[in-house]
Amino acid sequence: MSAVTDKIKEICQELILSDEKITQVRDLMNQEINKGLGRETNPQAKIKCFPTYVRQLPNGKEMGKFLALDLGGTNFRVLLIELAGGIAHSNMVSKIFAVPNDIMVGPGEELFDHIAHCLSVFMHEHGVQNEKIPLGFTFSFPCRQEGLTKGVLVTWTKGFSCSNVEGKDVVKMLNEAIRRRGDVEIDVLAVLNDTTGTLMSCAYKNPECRIGLIIGTGTNACYVEKLDKVGTWDGDFNEPQQVVINLEWGAFGDDGCLDFIFTEYDRDVDKNSINVGKQVFEKMISGMYMGELAGLALRRLCREGLIFNGKGSERFNERGSFHTKYISEIEGEKNGEVANCQAILDELDITGYTDEDCRHVRYVCELVSRRAASLVCAGLACLLNRIKEKHAVVAVDGSVYRYHPAFHNLMTAGISKLIDPGLAFDLMLSEDGSGRELP
Ligand code: BGC
Repeated sequence: MSAVTDKIKEICQELILSDEKITQVRDLMNQEINKGLGRETNPQAKIKCFPTYVRQLPNGKEMGKFLALDLGGTNFRVLLIELAGGIAHSNMVSKIFAVPNDIMVGPGEELFDHIAHCLSVFMHEHGVQNEKIPLGFTFSFPCRQEGLTKGVLVTWTKGFSCSNVEGKDVVKMLNEAIRRRGDVEIDVLAVLNDTTGTLMSCAYKNPECRIGLIIGTGTNACYVEKLDKVGTWDGDFNEPQQVVINLEWGAFGDDGCLDFIFTEYDRDVDKNSINVGKQVFEKMISGMYMGELAGLALRRLCREGLIFNGKGSERFNERGSFHTKYISEIEGEKNGEVANCQAILDELDITGYTDEDCRHVRYVCELVSRRAASLVCAGLACLLNRIKEKHAVVAVDGSVYRYHPAFHNLMTAGISKLIDPGLAFDLMLSEDGSGRELP
C-alpha cells in the first residue's frame, strides 16, 4: 500500500487489529462462552449459548417431503424439499419474498400474517395446499428454546423491531397466523436458527461438520458441544451426549469487553442504530453495518481534505449511502484497476476524483473487511480449539462470505494462525442452507 499517504495511514490506524489484540478477542470469547454455558453464570453472560435441542446431525439418508420457512433478513424464503435418501435424488423448489420495511418495524401480528400469506401463495403455486407437510421454521434471531418446537424471541436484531413478539413463542405466533387464514395447514417440526440450518444442510453432505457460521446481514455461529459442558442443559443425557449450541455471538462485547478495539466509526454506527449498545460484535462484522463503517471513515478523510479534494457530495454524506456491496465490488477488481470504484463514486455523485482517490477508497474498504474477517477468525479459532477435532468442517453462509472476493482466503489464513497445533479445518460454503441473501 505504498500509494497511501502517511496521513491517511495514521488516521486509519485504529482500524488495524494487531495479532495480539486478535488473540485477546479469541480468549475473551472463550471466557464468555464458558460463562454462557454455566448455569449460574449464564444470566450475566452476553453470549447466550442457547441449547437448540438439535442432538443429531443429518447423515444424508433422510427421506420425505418437507416445507421450510426462512426469515432472518430483508428476504423471506419458502422452500419445498423432497429428500430421497441421497443428494443426487433430492429436489427443491423455493421462492423469495421481500419483507417490506413497514412490516419489519410494525406490529408483530402483521409480520406473521405476511409470513402465512406468502406460505399460502407458495403452497397453492405448487399444488400442495391440501397436504399437511412437516415444516421447519428458520427464524434467525436470538431465541431461547424450550424444545425443538418452542422458541421465545429474546430480542430483535438486524433492523427488525416488530412490537409484541419479544418474550413470545414464535412457533405459536406462526401457528396462530396460519389458523387466522384457515386456507392451509402446517405441522411445525422444529424452529431453528440459520446457523443451525447451515450446519445441518452441510452435515447432510459432509459428516465432519461441527460448526455453522453466518456472515450476512447479521453474524452468528453455532457448534456441537458435549452435554457435560452445558451447565444450562435441562434435557435428557441419552446418546448422543451432545447438543448444538446457538451462541448468538453477535452480542459479544455488549458488556464493554471489546471497547479496547472500538473506533470512532463503531461508536457512530452503534449510536445511530435502532438497538444502541447491543450486538456490538455483529456491528463490527456484518453486512448490515460494514458499508457504513467504511463510509464513515471515508467521510472523515474527505472532511480532512485527504480525498476527493475535500469535496464529497450530498449523496456521499448521507448515512447509509456507502453500501456493503460496494466493498465487495471495489475489492473484486484487480489491483491497479479502478473501473468499479469509479462507477460507485459516480453513483455517489462525487466529481473530479483521481485514481489516487480510488486507491485510498480501496484501502479503507480493505481495512474494514480485514478487520471483520479477523474478528470472525478469532471466534472460529476459539470454537475449533474447544471442539479439538483433528479435522473439523465449518459450514458457512451469508452474503458477506458469499460475495466478498477475499473473505474466504482471509479467514483460512487468519484461523490457521490462531488454532492449537495439530488441529485442521475446512470452510464449506452452504449451497442451500439458510436464506439466500442478495449481495
Ligand atoms: C441474529 C442471529 C442470526 C444472525 C445471522 C443475528 O443478528 O441474532 O440469530 O443467526 O444474525 O443471521
